[in-house]
Amino acid sequence: MSSPERKPVTLPRLAEMKQAGEPIVMVTAYDYPSARVAEEAGVDLVLVGDTAAMVVLGYPGTEAVSMEEMIMLGRAVRRGLKVPLMVGDMPMGSYESSNELAVQSAQRLVKETGCQVVKLEAGGTSVERARAIVRAGIPVMGHVGLTPQTATALGGYKTQGKTAQGAIQLLEDALALQSVGCFSIVFEAVPAAIAAAIAAQLEIPAIGIGAGPATAGQVLVYHDLLGISTGRAPKFVKRYAEVHEEMVGGVRRYVEEVRSGSFPGPEHTYGVEPEELTEFRLYMEQKEGLGSKRAWEWEPLP
Ligand code: KIV
Repeated sequence: MSSPERKPVTLPRLAEMKQAGEPIVMVTAYDYPSARVAEEAGVDLVLVGDTAAMVVLGYPGTEAVSMEEMIMLGRAVRRGLKVPLMVGDMPMGSYESSNELAVQSAQRLVKETGCQVVKLEAGGTSVERARAIVRAGIPVMGHVGLTPQTATALGGYKTQGKTAQGAIQLLEDALALQSVGCFSIVFEAVPAAIAAAIAAQLEIPAIGIGAGPATAGQVLVYHDLLGISTGRAPKFVKRYAEVHEEMVGGVRRYVEEVRSGSFPGPEHTYGVEPEELTEFRLYMEQKEGLGSKRAWEWEPLP
């Protein structure tokens, strides 16, 4: 039975989902195949996250990724998506220093990747940057709690909002981001009770990653949820597959078969009409200088 055609996800649709208590599902994607997977799996939002720095580009943190790299990845994701709303993550250095830079960078992401909305991190001065981008006509998603671009200043990759003061700061940041027009806010690595209490105060959907079940939606990093990334994962990651193991196993079998000569077999090999082969062979045999360089022994000519 074919599933009904899904309509492209819009901002009013997300607001409606929050109102109806319908969970919103977001996942990251960084290239055409991951975008196709997200599309086919039926997610609502696809984030071209700056986690690309780590899971795709091999940098130690998200700080290193450039606007040009984000644009290259975003363009590939765009080509793979139809239904989900595409969120472009603003990399570190592309928005913090002024409203003008923030608007220019957001416009660049939208124009050059085709993302429909952008995401930036933290409260504080980011609230003003978000306001400026929203005023320029580009919808903004906020991101509070553990904000990896400024993780060093936060004392490392740690749960945020664990103290009353920390929770108050989170609440104030979230309310400020909502007041300047953000359509949604990501809560990362926040105690569930704090995230639930703040999310309940918001009119806009909170999307959690390590923020418990009470937010309007959830987001996970594609490479984490599929087990493409290896090594220690944060507590909030649930692995739904072990793709890295599968991939290594597949490539290992290929290596073995090439080395043993069992690949390629006849079913992976193109044939040629016998008369064409004979004509080619005669040509080669008559051509000077080739005689001693045969790649293999010919069958005897008929
Ligand atoms: O860059 C990213 O992938 C993110 C998610 C963790 C929300 O910001």
